[in-house]
Amino acid sequence: VLEDGGERSDGIPIKPRLLVVSNRLPVSAVREGEDSWTLEMSAGGLVSALLGVKQFDARWIGWAGVKVTDEVGQKSLTEALAAKGCIPVFLDEETVHQYYNGYCNNILWPLFHYLGLPKEDRLSTTRSLQSQFAAYKKANQMFADVVNKHHEEGDVVWCHDYHLMFLPKFLKEYNSKMKVGWFLHTPFPSSEIHRTLPSRSELLRAVLAADLIGFHTYDYARHFVSACTRVLGSEGVPQGVEDQGRLARLAVFPIGIDSDRFTKVLELPEVQEHIKELTERFAGRKVMLGVDRLDMIKGIPQKILAFEKFLEENPCWRDKVVLIQIAVPTRTDVPEYQKLTSQVHEIVGRINGRFGTLTDVPIHHLDRTLGFHELCALYSITDVALVTSLRDGMNLVSYEFVACQNSKRGVLILSEFAGAAQSLGAGAILVNPWNISEVSAAIGQALNMSAEEREKRHRYNFAHVTTHTAQRWAEFFVSEMNDAVIEAQNRIRE
Ligand code: G6P
Repeated sequence: VLEDGGERSDGIPIKPRLLVVSNRLPVSAVREGEDSWTLEMSAGGLVSALLGVKQFDARWIGWAGVKVTDEVGQKSLTEALAAKGCIPVFLDEETVHQYYNGYCNNILWPLFHYLGLPKEDRLSTTRSLQSQFAAYKKANQMFADVVNKHHEEGDVVWCHDYHLMFLPKFLKEYNSKMKVGWFLHTPFPSSEIHRTLPSRSELLRAVLAADLIGFHTYDYARHFVSACTRVLGSEGVPQGVEDQGRLARLAVFPIGIDSDRFTKVLELPEVQEHIKELTERFAGRKVMLGVDRLDMIKGIPQKILAFEKFLEENPCWRDKVVLIQIAVPTRTDVPEYQKLTSQVHEIVGRINGRFGTLTDVPIHHLDRTLGFHELCALYSITDVALVTSLRDGMNLVSYEFVACQNSKRGVLILSEFAGAAQSLGAGAILVNPWNISEVSAAIGQALNMSAEEREKRHRYNFAHVTTHTAQRWAEFFVSEMNDAVIEAQNRIRE
């Protein structure tokens, strides 16, 4: 337990509060009338992880993802969200454009995934990069204002992801005693990549204001430390980074999923019904599955080209295997994402034209998300899952697939550039997603794998996924934060 929260007058202990801050609230809001809203809470991994952290009373602060400019709307949405433990940050249209679409998703996201800075920003439009950076700082300040307004003594603030790198600094400027942690859900790239960023120093120093900094893998942590030592001249020490006389603790916290939620849902009659339908639909064929946001980091074109190569070189498999690719639309206002959508459609069309028959096609490509029940049913009937991200912080699709495979014992083909390769590598077939021949050969290996080998690999991964859960991850982070804060207080006393 982080700290004794004291007692209410009726003798019930008060839990310390955890303020979780992320760019997006785990809720989708739809306006029904002038002052009425329909809210749908997302049941993603982070939400279940935090619900599982019993020693805290968690509140969530973030952008509701909708444009609300009028006072009535802002007030009514704030009230509706309060009932769900959520506090909104209202971002105006220009800020969303410059901060979210611009600096977050067009600059930091590709850079952190080794795709470099956008070409047009390198030379001619440096000014747009500067204005996006200014909007990024402004948006981070808006988040800090809301956090500061709601912060009470004893609260722990946990900031999430690349959108909010300035938040630790701004919060500490408000209150140096605030307990602040920051966790990065993406990779942190090699310092050689990071140092191409014009605002490299400011970003690092802003993060270093946190008491605890967390990453998914040891490599990301190592890259961050070397960026700090090379760019800032700070010192890497066993506990973290020492900069300007202050220690920021740093540790590795690989995230997981709420595996029970997946294993239990498979028992529901409705899901069993879906499983039956899908099994009948694809009878006589092996099912290969990809589930990704339609993002350039996911390597969808490369994956489909590898599947084409496999069909080309293995005619005997042509009518015996199908690839289902669920491509969830995302960040659709960013031009790079629009280009990717057209590119994927073009490749899928070409391959289906080439290998399809009057009655069937080899690739079933869906530009949409699936409901949770349908998705779990699909995971469970899959023979081979293809997670071939070019870079990925962790990738929980690989975990979700494993959690749903207890009867089928399918094979996971996993990119060595996904954080998950470090935890599921022993059970999966690891591939370099850029090497289309290698991925094609892995497809052949997976489809022909003996039942004993599949069983052995599945057991290993299933044990990992069901023990290294999201809840454990969150508990570990907040308890480390507690230690970091106590240690810092002791150092000040000394
Ligand atoms: C990644 C990021 C998250 C982000 C998610 C969805 O997983 O690490 O912070 O929320 O993508 O992207 P979006 O831009 O729709 O929030």
